Amino acid sequence: MRKAIFLMGFMGSGKTTIGKKLARKIKFDFFDLDEVIELSQQKTIAQLFEEIGEERFREIEREALIDIGKNQNCVISLGGGTPCFYNNMDLIKELGTSVYLKLDMPILVGRLRNTKGNRPLLAKLNHKGISKFVREKLIEREPYYSQADFILRSNHPKVGPIMDMLNLA
Ligand code: S3P
Repeated sequence: MRKAIFLMGFMGSGKTTIGKKLARKIKFDFFDLDEVIELSQQKTIAQLFEEIGEERFREIEREALIDIGKNQNCVISLGGGTPCFYNNMDLIKELGTSVYLKLDMPILVGRLRNTKGNRPLLAKLNHKGISKFVREKLIEREPYYSQADFILRSNHPKVGPIMDMLNLA
């Protein structure tokens, strides 16, 4: 398989960790969309949300997706919101093969409570607020994520099952 492999899923689902491992295993390049944006803008995602707001961030994110998606033989870990804005999901499907890392909500909440610091959408929320946010956002985003070509339903996503799904083993 040539083309790009896109990993999507909610914040905290392990897209970056799994993406890096997958790319190493199959000898593809690896890109993390948030990292690409941070490098090109010379600011952290948190700074961008703070300084230019989410709306402008989503435009930049889309431009970065178009740019990075032109690469072949690469694994791209998307931001949690990337598939859910504009027609990004159509674009992702056009550009390559997509995998949704689907974790149960309580697991995501647990993971995010420990790592909310660098995530601007969560930074100001307390424990209860995070549960509410994740519950509401998951309902809103699931119709996008579920359009992925493959869905890995696991609370401990691993590279092996993804390679099997994609026939890369
Ligand atoms: C976001 C997820 C983040 C980052 C930004 C917004 C979202 O990426 O793009 O903070 O809307 O879910 P991760 O999913 O890699 O944390």
